[in-house]
Amino acid sequence: MKGLAILVAAGRGERMGAARPKAFLPLAGRPLLARSAEPFQAASSVGAIVAVVPPEEIENARAMLGGLSKLRAVVAGGARRQDSVLEGMKQAPEGFADVVLVHDAARPFVEPELIDAVANAAAAHGAALPVLPVVDTLKRLRDDRVVETIDRAEFGAAQTPQGFRFGLLTRAYEQAFRDHVTVTDEAMAVERLGEVVAVVPGSPRNRKLTTPEDMAWAEALLREEARA
Ligand code: CTP
Ligand code: MG
Repeated sequence: MKGLAILVAAGRGERMGAARPKAFLPLAGRPLLARSAEPFQAASSVGAIVAVVPPEEIENARAMLGGLSKLRAVVAGGARRQDSVLEGMKQAPEGFADVVLVHDAARPFVEPELIDAVANAAAAHGAALPVLPVVDTLKRLRDDRVVETIDRAEFGAAQTPQGFRFGLLTRAYEQAFRDHVTVTDEAMAVERLGEVVAVVPGSPRNRKLTTPEDMAWAEALLREEARA
């Protein structure tokens, strides 16, 4: 199987509060986008990589990723995540019918094994994503009061990469755009069709770096691993 990986890096990184979009911030000297692309270069289920970035970062991203033999294109993203993913999907070769993997560039610690596990599950079931168990007790809130305690066993935290047979994601996106629906992730578009989304075990390392505290966590993890 030779899947198409779409790395989405076109967000503004508002919660990070830095001067540049977060995928271009250095983590121990290397930008998040460069770090998150590497495991896709290494994963045997991936044949091509497309990076979707802010328009003003295209040249910079090309320079950063130019050494990857699987790099197919670097293109500008759109206003919403799904607009960025759509730009990436347009880079698929004519007649592409394999698996597409959409990954947040803000998750630099994804492992090739997880990428291959998602790709295999997506090929088998149509759609798949990694999920981590929820560890905290969950409360339903209303007006700053607890209404109810929820059974956390019923819930999981979604990660990326999210994998799909290309035809299924295309159909799901066409429907979402036709219905003027904004989806928070790609799987949600597939769920709207009533199609199965399979789950594979997520990885605690594969955390999305959203805030400055997450960057500090990531720097500490790298320091710890360098010492080991
Ligand atoms: N993303 C994108 N295009 C968008 C919005 C998001 O490619 N229009 C990407 C981001 O670059 C990121 C991933 O989707 O790699 C996950 O989104 P998120 O963590 O929300 O990143 P940002 O939107 O950049 O951050 P924020 O919401 O804090 O502004
Ligand atoms: Mg965002």
